[in-house]
Amino acid sequence: MLHELPVLSASDAQPAATRYDEVPHDFQLDYDAARSEAQVLSDGFGRQHTYLRISLVERCNLRCRYCMPEEDPEWTPDAQILTTEEVIRLARLFVEEGVTKIRLTGGEPLLRRDIETITEGIGPLPGLETLALTTNGLLLPKKFDRLQRAGLNLLNISLDTLRPDRFEQVTQRRGFDLVLAAIDEALARGYEPLKINCVVMRGVNDDEATDFVAWTEDKPLEVRFIEFMPFDGNRWDDTHLVPYQELIERIRQRFPLVRQQDGPNDTSKTYRVPGFTGTVGFITSMTDPFCEGCNRLRITADGNLKVCLFGRAEVSLRDALRDGASDDDLRGIISAAVGRKHARHAGMYTLAQMENRPMITIGG
Ligand code: GTP
Ligand code: 5AD
Ligand code: SF4
Repeated sequence: MLHELPVLSASDAQPAATRYDEVPHDFQLDYDAARSEAQVLSDGFGRQHTYLRISLVERCNLRCRYCMPEEDPEWTPDAQILTTEEVIRLARLFVEEGVTKIRLTGGEPLLRRDIETITEGIGPLPGLETLALTTNGLLLPKKFDRLQRAGLNLLNISLDTLRPDRFEQVTQRRGFDLVLAAIDEALARGYEPLKINCVVMRGVNDDEATDFVAWTEDKPLEVRFIEFMPFDGNRWDDTHLVPYQELIERIRQRFPLVRQQDGPNDTSKTYRVPGFTGTVGFITSMTDPFCEGCNRLRITADGNLKVCLFGRAEVSLRDALRDGASDDDLRGIISAAVGRKHARHAGMYTLAQMENRPMITIGG
């Protein structure tokens, strides 16, 4: 019955960011009454949130056009970015409340100097099953040993083209060979399947889809084609979006694709070419959203809890922490925010008009 429930819309009255102590008073009372029975991380639609994405840094060493606004956004001053201890404390709290998977994101998370210390603080948390990282790979070889030892067990690497010259056009930086080297090293270290994120844009890299599929013949890769999504400053328009159905049809002119079984919370629809080692997936956020299965929460680098990738509503956990909040106080703030999560996003054309953040400051 999800389709009958409220969805986010451009007229959504919630402010972009709410201080934790500005949660409406009557809501707080309702929440307090329900709190003893309710699970902190479950929302009004029965979704249990077991996957937390923590963005560690806003900046990146690449400037992919679909992610980074043309003009630099106003970067958050370092003093307002979560510290090592704050990140680990929040991670511990979420894991105590039932999170089993944490993904570290950015910007580019490996730019964070304390990434190893953070990983070592989070990896051993009892109850955490998956510690994941989404990265462009450039700095991975340098940091790999300590990250792997700390328990990093799932890795997604972004790569939108298999052509070196095009890599520079898309990312506005050099580094293609370094990314390929990071992918090889990840495979050698046993990261299987290794997920490769490829944002498909018409007229930019959509002619490479079958090359990416061919790449999966002998390698345990899961290449995931991602529909181009609108975020502040990324000049989204539907002419650059390649709907996944169209992409599948194009790929099928060269390769047969057989649908695989996906998990209930997966972002991608997975297929395999019979006989190939790897798989291909389609992340269809725009033309076929998957919000009913959403189990994800986000913490931004500046410490805001963001309950939906496309929602403006955020609440500052950093301010609460720095005001001396106890774990119970934090649970209350988190539970109230999760309780306000909408059933699904508003649809791509409304999203394109809505204020959010630049993708680089969300981390996917
Ligand atoms: P796995 O845990 O390995 O499946 O990775 P993931 O897909 O959760 O994370 P990743 O960082 O690799 O993101 C891949 C793409 O999926 C990015 O474009 C993300 O923005 C998008 N994505 C991740 N989580 C969500 C989500 O909750 N909603 C939507 N709409 N897209 C998401
Ligand atoms: N649309 C779709 N995916 C995006 N990503 C970044 N910006 C966008 C966008 N506008 C992807 C990156 C990375 C992941 C975290 O999000 O390629 O792999
Ligand atoms: Fe979850 Fe929001 Fe993504 Fe939908 S758009 S899957 S609700 S994060």
